[in-house]
Amino acid sequence: MTRTLVTSALLYANGPLHFGHIAGAYLPADVYVRTLRMCGDDVLAVCGSDDHGVAITIAAEKAGEEYSAYVAKWNAHMRRTFDAMNIRYDVVSGTSTCAEHAEGSQEFFTLLRNNGYLVDRETQQLYCVHDQMFLADRYVEGTCYVCRHEYARGDECPNCGTWIDPLKFVDPRCKICGNTPEQRTTRHWYLDLPKLRDEFIGDWIRGHPWKSNVAKFIENLLEDVPERAITRDMSWGIPLPGDVTDRDGKVLYVWFDAPIGYVSFTKELMRERGTPDAWKDWWKGEDTRLVHFIGKDNIPFHCLVFPSMLYGTKDGYVLPAEVPANEFYNLKGGKFSTTGGNAFDVIEFVDRYDVDTTRFYICSTMPETSDSEFSLEQLVQTANTSLAGTIGNLATRVLKFIAKNFDGVVPELHEEHREEMDRVILTECGDVEDPAEHIRAFRFRRGAEAIVQNASVANVFVD
Ligand code: MF3
Ligand code: ZN
Repeated sequence: MTRTLVTSALLYANGPLHFGHIAGAYLPADVYVRTLRMCGDDVLAVCGSDDHGVAITIAAEKAGEEYSAYVAKWNAHMRRTFDAMNIRYDVVSGTSTCAEHAEGSQEFFTLLRNNGYLVDRETQQLYCVHDQMFLADRYVEGTCYVCRHEYARGDECPNCGTWIDPLKFVDPRCKICGNTPEQRTTRHWYLDLPKLRDEFIGDWIRGHPWKSNVAKFIENLLEDVPERAITRDMSWGIPLPGDVTDRDGKVLYVWFDAPIGYVSFTKELMRERGTPDAWKDWWKGEDTRLVHFIGKDNIPFHCLVFPSMLYGTKDGYVLPAEVPANEFYNLKGGKFSTTGGNAFDVIEFVDRYDVDTTRFYICSTMPETSDSEFSLEQLVQTANTSLAGTIGNLATRVLKFIAKNFDGVVPELHEEHREEMDRVILTECGDVEDPAEHIRAFRFRRGAEAIVQNASVANVFVD
């Protein structure tokens, strides 16, 4: 039987989950997993936190907390939020705590290096004389040279999404002290994406059937594929393998180690289950369908970079079968953002408005093919019309009917009655749909509608 291995994007351990995250990568994964399991499929669901990188270290420094304590706090908060939302995974771990993760990440590095897909180069990088460190990623900011946004980060411009080369900033500033950094020489390892593209991944991407909104993204993805640095000059992260020279003061880039977390967490789970080799059935089994649930900003990493890494190991890893990326879920016209104050506390929210109502509403407005909007008024309306009005009404009528006519016990259904029932439903009550078919095709909105539609048909039948 086919196995389905489901992952949700590992959450940066630097803040709470908001509905934007939940609608993007976590609730759809949970609904998908539950649906496939109800149909009898073999499914494994993996998630956790993304603990390394500058997004974490800057936030922890700001909070005045140790990196590890800071990360542990947000990892625990993520678990509580999953519990409150009834979102379940087989394993929820973290890239800084999972025992299998460092060695597994180093193994990827070594395999890629041995197979000729890593190059090390001397390079110029911004260095802050005051703080005595190389300014990796978000430790430097400046004006975006594409859109002129004044606060572009050293890794990406938050305004236009450009992958930033900080050496091109005309006004670079150290994020810690505000001083102007200078250029110094350092060495880094690069993933040879152009080679991986030309050898295999380019054809694979072009030949792969992607979800429509993902396909649009991918057209442009292959045009300009640079080598990507996969090491950083910092202390918080996964050290380079022991046999690499000049490894002091360097760690693997967070976007290199994070997706490997999916593999490490599977290993952790299988060790805990007492079947330590079983992770290979999932990651290297020919009959595995790997499905990555992510938000659209993660598309390049899950459709290009991570598949390149998996392939480049030449070690039997499967490549993703589906990357059902969602677009953005907005609140009051803007992005959900905890730091920007545009968000609800998820745990308080479901305590007040009910978790299933919330889940159903989010499914019925999911940003599957374009950005969509969360609205409290609409949630209330959905609860009143679809849930209470149609489905609740059906439940009440059926329960009353059973109580009144059958002493509260559902009677056995004879075959001829079932046939008669089917005939009446099909000819007189309306069209029934299979919600699972929609969910399997990542049409969560249609899946939610189908459930309500079926309840309407059933109400006509009860009439
Ligand atoms: N933490 C990243 C984000 O929120 C996602 C990491 S996904 C992984 O954008 F594959 F790298 F784990
Ligand atoms: Zn920009």
